[in-house]
Amino acid sequence: MDPFNLLIIVTTILVLYFSLEVLLRDRVTKYVDKVPGPIKLPVFGTTWPLLFIPKSAMFFVVKTVLRRYGPVVRTWLGNVPVVHCIEPETVEVILNNSTQISKSKMYKIAHPWLGEGLLTSTGEKWHRHRKIITPTFHFKILENFVDIFVEKSQKLVEVLKDKADGDIFNLYPYITRCTLDIICETAMGVKINALDDPENEYIKSIYGITKLTMKRLTTPWLHPDFIFYKSTYGKEYNKYLTTLHNFTKQVIQDRKKTYKSDHLHSLSTSKDEDIGIKKRQAFLDLFIEMSNKENALTDEEIREQVDTFMFEGHDTTTAAINWTLFLLGNHQDIQDKVYEEVNQVFQNYENLTINSLNDLKLLERCCKEALRLYPSVPFIGRKLIEDIKLKEYLIPAGCTISIQMVTLHRNPNVFPKPNKFDPDRFLPENTKNRHPYAYVPFSAGPRNCIGQKFAIYEEKIILAYILKNYRIISTQTEKTIKPMMELILRPKDGLFIKLEPRV
Ligand code: HEM
Repeated sequence: MDPFNLLIIVTTILVLYFSLEVLLRDRVTKYVDKVPGPIKLPVFGTTWPLLFIPKSAMFFVVKTVLRRYGPVVRTWLGNVPVVHCIEPETVEVILNNSTQISKSKMYKIAHPWLGEGLLTSTGEKWHRHRKIITPTFHFKILENFVDIFVEKSQKLVEVLKDKADGDIFNLYPYITRCTLDIICETAMGVKINALDDPENEYIKSIYGITKLTMKRLTTPWLHPDFIFYKSTYGKEYNKYLTTLHNFTKQVIQDRKKTYKSDHLHSLSTSKDEDIGIKKRQAFLDLFIEMSNKENALTDEEIREQVDTFMFEGHDTTTAAINWTLFLLGNHQDIQDKVYEEVNQVFQNYENLTINSLNDLKLLERCCKEALRLYPSVPFIGRKLIEDIKLKEYLIPAGCTISIQMVTLHRNPNVFPKPNKFDPDRFLPENTKNRHPYAYVPFSAGPRNCIGQKFAIYEEKIILAYILKNYRIISTQTEKTIKPMMELILRPKDGLFIKLEPRV
């Protein structure tokens, strides 16, 4: 094409693009650009430096940039304005607001798999489902899951025996298989045996879809559906999606049939015969029970919730357990103290129970401190549906808000020597005057993590069994490990350790 014509076409497109942007974004731009932030370029927004930075450096770069401009910072992801909250006071304004519960666009990437489950839905649907699902996380129900946590942890210790030979290996996939076994049994009532059989089709599809969801999230040109589903990534994604949805749907059908026959059976037997034979119920059974009684959830809605639990309930705890072991493997003095505590508890209880977990106080502080330094969910996003005030700035409706846990949790004014691993920060005397929104690994307010207690019990049990049986020696340090800021914060190449048997 004639270069002059090409210039005219390019100029016309740019003029149209910017006019449209000015028209559509006038109000948003006017207010957002009053908030301090890095230099903005056309088309790229403020993301242009990221073209020159490896993904694994984002963890450190984001923190430094946000601290430099904070406490309220604006960035532009291309033409999308994002306002970041990194101080407890501004985080509270967002999380403690029952109107601002809409998730940002980023969560759309999980829609094909999770549909409108608790994590991704909003408005009336979210309110109704949250109310229905909250009782399924009751203490009494979680107590029933402790046996599963214990059984899978013991299995993990067994599987790791072959690895405790002084050689370096990647622990991450082993923890993933253990938490997958736990979530399959607690969410669906299905034993998948990932610890024995990592080649299982369902497990491979969970790995595959999680990886592709992360890939799509961090690759802007894969965001539009018409590009993604035409690409090899999209085709592979659809293959996994079919396996996962077919599996969950089949499990739901089977459990519904079992529920019906159990129900008929219990109607035809006397009350006395039933005493003591009540089966442990998975989350799915509870959803089915509620649907039968109150027509609360359709089959498709049950599927969305079960898939959401499968996603939120294994990747997050896997990362948290790995980061805790990474830190303990770098701080042998603290690991020895945790070992003493764990040993003491095992002297009193042959197998861990929910009550015994109360005695693992130092271990719990280590888990909390690990979630402070390496929060499994490194940031969360909201779409503002009303204008709000953050400090002196008016942030207009339509704007995306990002809460950066990583930066919030390393605020030197709240956590002196913020990069130091110090579990005593969570001693009661050290937390009593802390701002309640200074530390929010499970988020806070109406959209906080519904699985928080489940996660803490699971983490403590798996960690206690590992630490009772093995000494962990980290071969990576905080300087060499590469935390990857994706939907979940995980070490880029895995967690490389040595295991020494304790006996
Ligand atoms: C260490 C482990 C975990 C961490 C750090 C964690 C963290 C979080 C965070 C930060 C959110 C808010 C997300 C947002 O607003 O975008 C969240 C929501 C959620 N989490 Fe967790 N989570 C963990 C474990 C679990 C487990 C084990 C389950 C289920 C068994 C679970 C189920 C959920 C669900 C369903 C939501 C959506 C709640 C709603 O919006 O009503 N999480 N989690």
